[in-house]
Amino acid sequence: MSITLTVNGRSHTIDVDPSTPLLYVLSDDLALRGPKFGCGLGQCGACTVLARGRAIRSCVTPVSAMSGADITTLEGLGTVERPHPIQQAFIDEQAAQCGFCLNGIILTAKAFLDQQPNASEAEIQRALSGVLCRCFAHTRMLRAINRYAGHPVPSRAGDAGSATGDGEPASLWTGGVK
Ligand code: FES
Repeated sequence: MSITLTVNGRSHTIDVDPSTPLLYVLSDDLALRGPKFGCGLGQCGACTVLARGRAIRSCVTPVSAMSGADITTLEGLGTVERPHPIQQAFIDEQAAQCGFCLNGIILTAKAFLDQQPNASEAEIQRALSGVLCRCFAHTRMLRAINRYAGHPVPSRAGDAGSATGDGEPASLWTGGVK
């Protein structure tokens, strides 16, 4: 079946089984490396992309459901030379450890703040509760998101724990990480 997707502003027509997960098309056919394969079950957020104004999990989204949709991956937010402000905030706060979860964290936070620009920090943490990070970089990532949202940025001096200053990280998105 022939399906047309608009990804990062470019139209692509792909001959594909309509039940193929969107993630496979993005990575295998379009060679995009922003969305990651984590759990493959819609449970970790690593494969997140933006579509129709929402953060969706591309590993459990059949490509046919996105026919005609405008999709943005992490690569589509900004460039190395001109990162999107949320990407710049993550750079400024050095908000990564291994980096595998960053795609889901950044796109989920952006989609949420696009919808609710005045969201509180607690609301941001709740919105991120389904995106998993196993490196415990939550505190640095929350600082970056607060910076992007225009909130006061929590002090690094308040962090406790690891040598990287991440500590017991931002309540692990209020208990969202199991
Ligand atoms: Fe899609 Fe985990 S890889 S949610």
